[in-house]
Amino acid sequence: MKRNEDLIKGWIESAPFWEKYHAALNAMFVPVTQSLIHDGIAGVAGQLAGQAILDVATGPGEPALTLAGLVGPKGSVVGVDPVPAMVEAARREAARRQLANVRFEVAFADRLPFPDDTFDAVLSRFGVMFFPAPLEGIREMLRVLRSGGGIAAAVWGSADRNPFHYIFSRAIDRYIKSPPPEPGAPDAFRFAEPGELLAIFKVAGAVDTSDRILQFQIQTSIAVEDFWTMRCEISEKFREKLTMLTKEQATEVRREVITAARTYSANDQLRFPAEIRVVSGRKL
Ligand SMILES: C[S@@+](CC[C@H](N)C(=O)[O-])C[C@H]1O[C@@H](n2cnc3c(N)ncnc32)[C@H](O)[C@@H]1O
Repeated sequence: MKRNEDLIKGWIESAPFWEKYHAALNAMFVPVTQSLIHDGIAGVAGQLAGQAILDVATGPGEPALTLAGLVGPKGSVVGVDPVPAMVEAARREAARRQLANVRFEVAFADRLPFPDDTFDAVLSRFGVMFFPAPLEGIREMLRVLRSGGGIAAAVWGSADRNPFHYIFSRAIDRYIKSPPPEPGAPDAFRFAEPGELLAIFKVAGAVDTSDRILQFQIQTSIAVEDFWTMRCEISEKFREKLTMLTKEQATEVRREVITAARTYSANDQLRFPAEIRVVSGRKL
C-alpha cells in the first residue's frame, strides 16, 4: 500500500487550483453540504447553533467555512487537511471573512491531533474515498467524536451517473486508456457501490448508520470554455493525461468536452445531473 505522504503529492499540486476555484466549487456543491449537515448534525443534534464540528479533508475549507457561519459565536469548527497549501488557503478565506469561530490544522484523517470525545459532529465532503486506510480514518473520526455525536461522509455515486466527470474521462480515455483502479485504491468512485462505505462505518463502531443516494444538479454560471479550464486544472488525473496527448489530440478532446458540456447548458447556466452517496451514523 502507498504511504499517506506519497498519496497526497497530487493534492499538493492541485491546491493552488482548488483555492482559485473555491467559490465556484462551493456554489456547485451546496446540496452536498446541506445533506451532510442534515444527516450528520441536524438529524442527530436537532440544531446547529453552539455545536463543535470537525471537517476532515477540508481542502480549501469546505464545508468548514459554511458551518462556521451556521454554528454561531458559541459554536466552533475545525477543518483538517494533510496538504499545508490547502490549509493555508482555508485560513486565508477564514481571515478574509473575519470568521473567529473556525480554525484549520494540517492532519491526516487517520492521525487526528485531538483528544477523544472532542467534537459534537464530524463530517467529510469528498474526502473519505482518498484515504489510503478508510477504516482507520473512520475509527479516528469516531474516536474524536463525543458519545451520541453524528458522523457523515459524502462520496461520489456511480461514475456513469455523473457527467461532470464522464464527459472528460470518456473523451480522454479514447486516447489514453486507464487501467481500472486496484481494488481498495484511493479513487473518486471507490465508494460508489451501495453498502461499501456503510460496512466500514459499521466495522469502525458507528451505530444508527444510513447509506443514501442524493441526486442533485451541479449548477454554475461559468462559461463552457471556463468550465473546461477549471476541470482540467483541479483534476490531477486530467492534468497528467492532457500532457500525454499530442497537440491535435488535446485540441480534439477539448472540442469534444466543450460540445458535450453545451448539451447541459441553458440560459447561461451549466446544469449537470449528479449523484452522490451520503453515509452517516452516530457514536454510541
Ligand atoms: C476532493 S478534495 C475535497 C476538498 C473539500 N472537502 C471539498 O469538498 O471541496 C479531497 C481532499 O482530501 C484530502 N486528503 C487526501 N488524503 C487524505 C487523508 N489521508 N486524510 C485526510 N484528507 C486527505 C486532500 O488533500 C484534498 O484536500
